[in-house]
Amino acid sequence: MTNILCIGAGYVGGSTIPIVASHCPQHRFVIVDINEARIAAWQSDKLPIYEPGLDEIVFKTRGKNLFFSTDVDKHIAEAGIIFVSVNTPTKMFGQGAGKAADLQYWEKTARQILENSTTSKIVVEKSTLPVRTGEAMERILNSNSKGLHFDVLSNPEFLAEGTAVRDMENPDRILIGGRETESGQKAVETLVELYATWVPRERIITTNLWSSELSKLVANAFLAQRISSINSISALCEKTEADVNEVAHAIGLDNRIGKYFLRSGVGFGGSCFKKDILHLVYLCEHYGLPEVAAYWEQVVTMNEYQEMRFVSKMVSAMFNTIAGKRIALFGAAFKANTNDTRESPALEVCRALLEEHAEVVITDPHAMENARYDLGELAKRITFEPDPYAAANGAHAIALVTEWSQFAQLDFEKIHAAMVKPAFIFDGRNLLDHNKLYEVGFNVYPIGKPALTHLHAQ
Ligand code: UDX
Ligand code: UDX
Repeated sequence: MTNILCIGAGYVGGSTIPIVASHCPQHRFVIVDINEARIAAWQSDKLPIYEPGLDEIVFKTRGKNLFFSTDVDKHIAEAGIIFVSVNTPTKMFGQGAGKAADLQYWEKTARQILENSTTSKIVVEKSTLPVRTGEAMERILNSNSKGLHFDVLSNPEFLAEGTAVRDMENPDRILIGGRETESGQKAVETLVELYATWVPRERIITTNLWSSELSKLVANAFLAQRISSINSISALCEKTEADVNEVAHAIGLDNRIGKYFLRSGVGFGGSCFKKDILHLVYLCEHYGLPEVAAYWEQVVTMNEYQEMRFVSKMVSAMFNTIAGKRIALFGAAFKANTNDTRESPALEVCRALLEEHAEVVITDPHAMENARYDLGELAKRITFEPDPYAAANGAHAIALVTEWSQFAQLDFEKIHAAMVKPAFIFDGRNLLDHNKLYEVGFNVYPIGKPALTHLHAQ
């Protein structure tokens, strides 16, 4: 039996470690966090993150071989393997502000590991980190005079929120990076063995430490780049009567392009894409590669353009003013099936609508609490309404910004009847049946397709 510790009970630590624990009953897993309320929630019936299928796994393993605690020091001392999944936000001060990763939590954690260790350990980077962070960590950890040795591995997480359980149960690949020394390779093999309990060996790939760290940033940058690419085309489609869904389908059937991540929408969000691309940009600038940096930065610029383009379209369609108009925002989460609102395009749209002095009502099946928190002071100017029918009641427009399938099931005839006319619907995710909405009487504005409007005839 090995004591396996995870530091950081957020989306990454909290959704991966319970799954590992469920497959490895022979080991004992502890997840620690400095946030007491978060740990209390992991110990309760209402877990702090909404992730389909996760409750069942946590309830099955908790108290058997999975434990949650705030006693970080004690559990560091007992652990043989430590996963670190503390957050690495974008640095908002000093050198690299707005782009570089803020590594203060990571470094603090490394020092805490060192202070509380009496045995040698494997330390696994689970958080996304800039390339060569592992080296800095090795230096801190191995600078000890206790005669202890620490092997630092990189094992980036590729799961997506909303499908975390499925992604982790059946991953495309597990990536483990380590040092090419004898002890580094032994540590890699230990982690390979852990995953091999349920993941086929051929899907577990091992690389050097730097390749593994960089691959995580590059994977996210490539995924985000596809979204920005198709979103750039959506703008052109709206000018030319081409249909972005048809274009995406047509190009996606080419195996070399592939069909995934070509869904045009209001923009990408989430805790990783923007942050990781900006890390990549910063790294390139740091290493004297301004052309490479500018290339990747454009992916983020295009995303911001897409979000603002959506709002501009709303304003211009609604007779160039939305001041004082009630607008129902359908969605707050950055994608469906999660309560996460970090970097959510929904909230960017919301902020821009408030700038235009619109009266905003937000409805979302799971993310209202986080939305309220993220919007801070602005939340006071917003109505949070769990019932989408009530949210749309008396509204001039609906802006659908998260692709919750429940929104597609709504009775839009009933909704239309209770709205101010002419009623507008802006489908920022191309989720709804646009022709049907048009027949009901809505003026419909999809993404990357011609608008369906009754207004010309008037
Ligand atoms: C993710 C990933 O780990 C990281 O790769 C990505 O870059 C952004 O954040 P996530 O799990 O989504 O992490 O973040 P979050 O939900 O904020 O969880 C981090 C947890 O670490 C928090 O619960 C925080 O309280 C905890 N933490 C942070 C510690 O326990 N100790 C610290 O010193 C700092
Ligand atoms: C992403 C990566 O997919 C995952 O591998 C990594 O570990 C963490 O970052 P996540 O942010 O949870 O996962 O969700 P993802 O499904 O990638 O969606 C990110 C954003 O892109 C969402 O806002 C989503 O709505 C948007 N998106 C995704 C599109 O706009 N179009 C698409 O075709 C796909």
